[in-house]
Amino acid sequence: MRVIKVATPEEMGKQAAAVIAAGMRAKPHFVLGLATGSTPIPLYQELIRLHKEEGLDFSTTITFNLDEYVGLEPTHDQSYRYFMNEQLFDHININKANTHVPNGLAEDLEGHCLAYEMMIDDVGGIDCQVLGIGGNGHLAFNEPGSSLASRTRPLDLTENTIKDNSRFFEKVEDVPTRAVTMGIGTILEAENLLFVANGANKAGIVAAALEGPLTVKVPASALQIHSNVTCVITEDAAADLTLNFRS
Ligand code: PGA
Repeated sequence: MRVIKVATPEEMGKQAAAVIAAGMRAKPHFVLGLATGSTPIPLYQELIRLHKEEGLDFSTTITFNLDEYVGLEPTHDQSYRYFMNEQLFDHININKANTHVPNGLAEDLEGHCLAYEMMIDDVGGIDCQVLGIGGNGHLAFNEPGSSLASRTRPLDLTENTIKDNSRFFEKVEDVPTRAVTMGIGTILEAENLLFVANGANKAGIVAAALEGPLTVKVPASALQIHSNVTCVITEDAAADLTLNFRS
């Protein structure tokens, strides 16, 4: 595991974007796994800057998002499809047909999840997967208790996550209670994992994930068993780390 500590969220975004840009420049048809939430926003801003100012080319890039709420239209301003369009896709030269976000409105959600996994396989797997961490240690929407070998599936969100995410909705009752998420086993199959975290409120859970025991109580602890993980973490979020990480 490689841990890069940085001073600010902007610097986190720059360092993480540099990892992605290097991968994209080395491999046409790069398959990029994307995450939502507030943490990756500076990363997406930097990717947009690299596109506009340095010609980073997304025309052959393929993307897969980690998760989506069940029951929100793609046009709903809290859906993750909407978030990705607003925060990244509308500002770069990506072909939207090559951008994939799970469909939380699929009639057959289980079947959709299987098909989502097959689409990832069909393009040769994910080259680099961006990951954040929830306050409760969730990885994508894999809540505590999720099998570390889980696959893409629909699941119930925890009270904790619903409360955390209610800051984006008018009232807590508006937050969907279910989601579709790539599984932890699915995520671990990506070639490279790019983990980003910022803010003092994440320090405890970041240390639990990266240094604590491998446990279903902290789904992000699964990062410890992947051989190619780059973590870009602000100093405040890294404050509880004690180890010198080695690859
Ligand atoms: P955040 O969410 O980036 O908004 O903190 C992260 C997550 O829940 O995975």
